[in-house]
Amino acid sequence: MEKYLSVKKVNKHFGKFQALKDVNFDVKEGEFVCILGPSGCGKTTLLRVIAGLESQSEGEINQNNKNISQLPPDQRDFGIVFQSYALFPNLTVKNNISFGLKTRKQNRDAIDKRVDELLNLVGLSDHINKYSAQLSGGEQQRVALARALAPSPGLLLLDEPLSALDAKVRQHLRLEIKNLQRKLGVTTIMVTHDQEEALTMADRIILMNKGVIEQEGSPQDIYSKPTTAFSANFIGTTNLFKVKKISSNSIEIHGSILECDDDIKDDVSTVTIRPEDIKISDSENNQNIFTGTVKELEFLGSNIRGHIEVNFKSQTDIVICNFASEYIQYNNIQKDTQVNISLQPHAIKIVKD
Ligand SMILES: Nc1ncnc2c1ncn2[C@@H]1O[C@H](COP(=O)(O)OP(=O)(O)O)[C@@H](O)[C@H]1O
Ligand SMILES: [Mg+2]
Repeated sequence: MEKYLSVKKVNKHFGKFQALKDVNFDVKEGEFVCILGPSGCGKTTLLRVIAGLESQSEGEINQNNKNISQLPPDQRDFGIVFQSYALFPNLTVKNNISFGLKTRKQNRDAIDKRVDELLNLVGLSDHINKYSAQLSGGEQQRVALARALAPSPGLLLLDEPLSALDAKVRQHLRLEIKNLQRKLGVTTIMVTHDQEEALTMADRIILMNKGVIEQEGSPQDIYSKPTTAFSANFIGTTNLFKVKKISSNSIEIHGSILECDDDIKDDVSTVTIRPEDIKISDSENNQNIFTGTVKELEFLGSNIRGHIEVNFKSQTDIVICNFASEYIQYNNIQKDTQVNISLQPHAIKIVKD
């Protein structure tokens, strides 16, 4: 796939506050990229800079081999959907969708045909003459999507398009948007603070923290190979431990020595272990196996999250583990049950602070 968009060394200052710090990334043609991060980390600012709705303080943006850094929004090639339903309330669905087409002076038949096509695409053909007040939140966002796609833009920008919707609609629409994007092959950048949304929809995730790109990669990579404590913690649930190097394949956690598969560098200070990688063990007192007490069991539906108070050599610490519900029942594990847990060498991953 060819590079379609590149953001180079972008900085954005609002007075003394710097909202974007040396932001660099590329988006390939047809790719679905999610910009993920906590509220206030600069996601919307970045999207607005790409759209030309906000001007960058420094840096360059190229789209389709053209430097668009200084172009006003109406001379850039994108469609955008915002979190809040930004439909024109006094226009019907049809006129909302055709709005951007009319300004491009297409003839009426061509416009009608395009509106039909788009309504078909988002499954709202029966709603063509309704006003936005007569539509549900999910339907309004589908109209907003159709409107953004109407002029066949080269780039689709989505700013938290699902976050005002309730959970069921959100889950349904995220599949719909993903399928639509694949079908049309339109290069897409979606901003979200919802890690599940990013993991399920993105080809690639760009994780942001305080105006800086923290990590980028496929959802699988970011989940299984977080490079920083922030990445590990923001995506999924995890355990983080302060550690010291003992040798190239062992570390010390709270006075206890653990074997690791990772190559331990001198400056190691933090490791992460995913809850699902922690196993209950029959044996005890082997390397990497520790005794502990179940303090909490949280029912999560298909599985159960255990909070285990683990006896390390110099102190206890809470370790979060995931278990299948059947396992907990079959082994009669309850609050205050003593268990042996295994922190397997391959599950221990070094991260930067
Ligand atoms: N127009 C503005 N003037 C001053 N500060 C702003 C402006 N827009 C955004 N900010 C600040 O920039 C930071 C990033 O905002 P934003 O990009 O909206 O974050 P996000 O979309 O990730 O929640 C926030 O601290 C916000 O207060
Ligand atoms: Mg935002």
